[in-house]
Amino acid sequence: MSFDRSIKIAPSILAADFANFGAECAAIEAQGADWVHVDVMDGHFVPNITFGPATCAAIRPHIKGVMDVHLMIAPVDPYIDAFAQAGADVITAHVEAGPHIHRTLQAIRGAGAKAGVALNPGTPAEAVADLMDMVDLICVMTVNPGFGGQKFIDMTAKIRRLRAMIGDRPVHIEIDGGVDPTTAPLVAKAGADVLVAGSAVFRGGSVSDPAPYGTNIRAIRDAATGTYA
Ligand code: DX5
Ligand code: ZN
Repeated sequence: MSFDRSIKIAPSILAADFANFGAECAAIEAQGADWVHVDVMDGHFVPNITFGPATCAAIRPHIKGVMDVHLMIAPVDPYIDAFAQAGADVITAHVEAGPHIHRTLQAIRGAGAKAGVALNPGTPAEAVADLMDMVDLICVMTVNPGFGGQKFIDMTAKIRRLRAMIGDRPVHIEIDGGVDPTTAPLVAKAGADVLVAGSAVFRGGSVSDPAPYGTNIRAIRDAATGTYA
């Protein structure tokens, strides 16, 4: 996984057909997805349940590129090795998920994965100020986590503060929640480079008719980069 700040589109399989994850991952990659975003929810840290490490391991062989695992679980630490062994390239934990985020990030890197830290909309940028050398990615939530298809919450001021705090470090800024061709340019201009999108990618398509996935991905990318086709 090499580092660059170009815009990357990371479809969230939370909006995919849960009975067909393998084919859905292959379809979105064939249609231009850069990363595959995998939302793990525990019904405790967030009010919804998805799946765990066994599902991630089953999906892994169907993903050629980056598998980006977003853990919306508490506690995190007992499960880090399992997600790393499942083949996660990036493992992101929430700063709100426990009192020892520093230890969690050390453990993620120790397990051989890139370390991400996520911030809920109510958490200020300053919460990660002392973690800048411990992270490979900062995920700015633009919805309260738990469900796809929610309305975008404007966090552009926070993104700008984080971008300044990161400086020259090779740290991605990822945006998660309500990203579509209307909101993508706002967050890209503020300094984000990884754009997660669930409903805005999967709407209108299916594994038997995947072309809309490509149209949707291009629309978000073109809006974010300012290249309107
Ligand atoms: C929210 C998840 C997001 C979500 C994004 O808890 O972390 O990844 O699936 O979905 P959309 O793009 O539909 O807001
Ligand atoms: Zn997510």
